[in-house]
Amino acid sequence: MNPPAAQGLILHARMATLAGDDGYGLIEDGAIAWREGRIAWLGSTAELPRAFDALRATALDAHGALLTPGLIDAHTHLVFAGERAHEFEQRLEGIGYEAIAHAGGGILATVRATRAADEASLLTASLPRALALLADGVTTLEIKSGYALDSEGEASMLRVARRIGSELGIDVRTTLLGLHALPPEFSDQRADYVREVCTQWLPRLHAEGLVDAVDAFCEGIGFSATETRQMFGAARALGLPVKLHADQLSNLQGAALAAEFGALSADHLECTDARGVAALAAAGTVAMLLPGSFYALRETRLPPIAALRAARVPMAVATDLNPGTSPLRSLRVAMNMACTLFGLTPLEALRGVTVHAARALALTGRGRLATGLRADLVLWDAATPAELSYWIGGTLTRMVIAGGTRVA
Ligand code: NIG
Ligand code: FE
Repeated sequence: MNPPAAQGLILHARMATLAGDDGYGLIEDGAIAWREGRIAWLGSTAELPRAFDALRATALDAHGALLTPGLIDAHTHLVFAGERAHEFEQRLEGIGYEAIAHAGGGILATVRATRAADEASLLTASLPRALALLADGVTTLEIKSGYALDSEGEASMLRVARRIGSELGIDVRTTLLGLHALPPEFSDQRADYVREVCTQWLPRLHAEGLVDAVDAFCEGIGFSATETRQMFGAARALGLPVKLHADQLSNLQGAALAAEFGALSADHLECTDARGVAALAAAGTVAMLLPGSFYALRETRLPPIAALRAARVPMAVATDLNPGTSPLRSLRVAMNMACTLFGLTPLEALRGVTVHAARALALTGRGRLATGLRADLVLWDAATPAELSYWIGGTLTRMVIAGGTRVA
């Protein structure tokens, strides 16, 4: 027998619909009804049509609390084994992230731990991180591979990512990040590694339905623009969208490269220049801001926020949750950092984790509240939308609904 259709009704909420090209799209004293996992009606509580009377018996009275779309964390590396607290201590002693990576730490330290873990323990280690995001209002989550760096291990990581979605009842989008670091068995054979990822892993993992998009770490300590191009060419040939870790520690013209391939997003962007901003604007590529890694690495170069804003490049905000540069388990804290460190307004931060984050994952049917969209909803212990960026830490969610079903 089919499970009961996901339906419900919330009355007397202050709704930030984010409908429209700008603003919160507020509806005061609003009601929202959903059936079969989709929003069936929203508007003023006083105008709720009689057709929804049957839902009134089980309706929830929000008493004026804030209701928003479910939040979307569109850039995470949350599937991994182990932790790197020791590198945190090293950085506090003045050793840089790149120096740690050159000494065999950094990403490769997590690769060793992840390779040593079986799939079940990888899931056990990763689930609580996803749960923390969910408890904080995240109903759609992107998860990258890139800590196994061999074909079977990357497949395991992506399967664990999918499994997290089904375990928690939220939507997980997977990204293949084979070009994250050069695995030790390929040192001195860079070209062979890149070729293998492009011509063997990608088609195989794609055929297994494990890949929603392809990413690369285009950086001095990662992969060159030429290698990234090769990867993107292979992805586009399979019809897969691309995105890029671009211009984080140095300016390799990653933003322009991402734009050239019509990337969904270009992520980090601390070192992006005017040419990169113009390219993003022309391509319609989302600028994915990751203040967690900026904060944890104590970076001083800010992404070019004013230029992105002036060029009307959509700005998304994500946690970049990973064991090295951003051990950040709260998207709301990322919103706070985006405001405090990058100068976003709370409105930009909220649009950055809803409307623009949805666009960065090529998901059109969510990120806003409107009839027909997925019923991904969060009822907050807050009265105003700015509070979501204002409070730091603690729990602010009263209820989290994904696809019409309560998940927290
Ligand atoms: O987004 N830059 C590459 N990937 C991660 C860091 C991964 C790590 O240090 O483990 C990032 O910052
Ligand atoms: Fe990242």
